[in-house]
Amino acid sequence: MSSATQTLQIDEVPQVVLQLYQQQTFEPAEALAMQYLSVRPKDAEMHFCLGKIFWAQKKWPQSAQALNDAISIAPTKHEWLHDLGLMYFEGGAKDAARQTLETYAKRQQSSWRMPSEFIDDYFAGIRCTDTPVYPSRRLQRFHLLWEVAQKTFQHFAALKQPIHMAECGCFMGLSAFLLASVRRRVLGQYQGQAFHIFDSFEGLSAPTDEDLAITENAEQKRAIGMSKAGMFKAAQAQVEAALAEFPQIQYHAGWIPQSFEGLPEQSYGFVNVDVDLYAPTKASFEYFYPRLAVGGVIITDDYNWPGAKQAVDEFIGSLAPNSFRLETTEHHQAIIYKMAEC
Ligand SMILES: C[S@@+](CC[C@H](N)C(=O)[O-])C[C@H]1O[C@@H](n2cnc3c(N)ncnc32)[C@H](O)[C@@H]1O
Repeated sequence: MSSATQTLQIDEVPQVVLQLYQQQTFEPAEALAMQYLSVRPKDAEMHFCLGKIFWAQKKWPQSAQALNDAISIAPTKHEWLHDLGLMYFEGGAKDAARQTLETYAKRQQSSWRMPSEFIDDYFAGIRCTDTPVYPSRRLQRFHLLWEVAQKTFQHFAALKQPIHMAECGCFMGLSAFLLASVRRRVLGQYQGQAFHIFDSFEGLSAPTDEDLAITENAEQKRAIGMSKAGMFKAAQAQVEAALAEFPQIQYHAGWIPQSFEGLPEQSYGFVNVDVDLYAPTKASFEYFYPRLAVGGVIITDDYNWPGAKQAVDEFIGSLAPNSFRLETTEHHQAIIYKMAEC
């Protein structure tokens, strides 16, 4: 290759482009990537990388061109559509963003339809919380969370019944952002009132034996690999900044269940439990379910984590039959609808 990179072998170029990109030296990265593509124009990965380099420089049309080139050369890389959608969104091309994510969804599962309101909330959440777009498979989970929350908020709004909502485990704030956003859509105006976030802001607590049970299930093995004290740590200030559109959210920093002590008695309509481990999952269900209004929902997406699944199963086992409805999804969510006081 020419000039400063004269001594590089062509096969070494992708690695160097990536390093330059990671070091945020975008102009040399862009020049080298273009040079490489003049020799190997069908290299989809390099087109994709060039798209990210343009994106980082807010060169939106060039980024769109390069990402679309990558996708047309490698059409089976569906997850790249997810990046393309986010790039369009950040570049202000909302219609293109929605269409791209809809195409992504259809390719994942032909019957999957996402409302454009969800797509807008999702991309806005990714941007505010600075959450990486991967793994893109979590999109379906978030979509379902958003829809269940929407129906629940509509139900209580129709009854004019005031309710609180809570999230146990917020990490960088993406699910909280989605919940607050969909509540705002239902209520018209909303700044985070009666929304309670419980988190250590120190990451996971220490796993117990229930979390580390030996299993042959590949997903559970993966979960066990992530069951380490301190995983998923995000600082409270970072989350508050990400959720700045909702300044009335109440943050309850500390370890569950101690952080439930001394809370005023309140009626909850929607509770999202996402703390991954046995002990805090069980404690969250035990605290919130009795305080859940009839018609309310408690949901977790940890139903593939061994300890969290055990906690939910034990908790459900303690409920009166016919007082609730349980729905589980292929995305490892367990949704409990409270139908009667038990
Ligand atoms: C998987 S992350 C939550 C992800 C978030 N709900 C989302 O979807 O964007 C798990 C969170 O649970 C919190 N956590 C885990 N164990 C906890 C405990 N015992 N007390 C308080 N927070 C805990 C961690 O700090 C982390 O923020």
